[in-house]
Amino acid sequence: MSNEKWVQDLWEKIDKKLSRVSVSAREKLPYTTDEKGEYDNKTGKAVTWWTNGFWSGMMWLMYDGTKKDTYRITAERGEQLLDEALKQVEGLHHDVGFMWHLSAGANYRLTGNRESLVRNFYAANVLAGRYNLKGGYIRAWNGSGQKGFAIIDCMMNIPLLYWASETFGDERFKSIAMAHADKTMKYHVREDGSVNHIVNYDPQTGEVVENLGGQGYAPDSSWSRGQAWGLYGFTLSYIHTKEERYLQTAKKIANYFIAAVCDDWLPKCDFRAPAEPVIYDTSAGLIAASGLLELAKVVPEYEQKMYYNAALNLIKAITERFADWSEDTDAIITHGTEAYNRGMHKTMIYSDYYLVEAVNKLMGFNTFLW
Ligand code: GLY
Repeated sequence: MSNEKWVQDLWEKIDKKLSRVSVSAREKLPYTTDEKGEYDNKTGKAVTWWTNGFWSGMMWLMYDGTKKDTYRITAERGEQLLDEALKQVEGLHHDVGFMWHLSAGANYRLTGNRESLVRNFYAANVLAGRYNLKGGYIRAWNGSGQKGFAIIDCMMNIPLLYWASETFGDERFKSIAMAHADKTMKYHVREDGSVNHIVNYDPQTGEVVENLGGQGYAPDSSWSRGQAWGLYGFTLSYIHTKEERYLQTAKKIANYFIAAVCDDWLPKCDFRAPAEPVIYDTSAGLIAASGLLELAKVVPEYEQKMYYNAALNLIKAITERFADWSEDTDAIITHGTEAYNRGMHKTMIYSDYYLVEAVNKLMGFNTFLW
């Protein structure tokens, strides 16, 4: 356990803010905050929104670290509110991984709740059903022109499939996850460790049609959150499979990420965008930080410090400059960016989720939800 005072202080500040918000936002599935700093609510029509599991997941991380009931109650409520999404089947997409694995999956892991097991198993089947057998990839989204779309983000959804195999002793889910990971390794990850966001495959043959810029600046640029999804996602594929190729890929992306951000440890939204305007994406840094802490646990001893220290640098730099500890607002981390061309410098539930996950690790709780 890291006893460093700044980690303790950070955890206490997080706990102070979130214990209040866990009550005030209990009937919500928050994504971002309004001009007054109050959380919005993605229930109702928006219930299939991809980020709707992070709220419960963050509450479970806090519960596991503090054992305060307020967090457990809100986590369970968030999972119930998400049930509405199970009925909107046409609206479901590959992010069922984020949505249920961090809510129902976390509940099952921490409490053994049977209903949560069922929910997470349904979600795993939805994700497995999106695998294109001819193309060899998991389809990301549902648009008619998007049959061939696979995106780097999906590397964070496939842990749901590893979980299903491990929990039910059924290798099929893991086979799908690995087939997708192998194809992603080949066509998304570039020689220098940067990654493509969207690869459009021919859905009949699996051949690459084109790379698309997606949420980054351009097709050949380097969307920082995509780098972070890849870094953490391949680390998780290694943890679940122990296949060396996934570890090497995670390290390659991590080394690229560290080199791109180490000037001031404040990630730009795209590492290869023009110098102006300066657009940050704090979420990329916090996802990467939590991924680096996980990576540091599985690399050989002499490599651990580099990844661990990089994670500390990211968390310190981001929280020193972009954390809001005010008692009048709901979210903590500012300056997250949805995409290079939209949603600049806002609060986003997953920025806070990955901050809490990383600090939970630094505190030595190591609550593993993936
Ligand atoms: N998975 C969508 C995003 O990172 O914005």
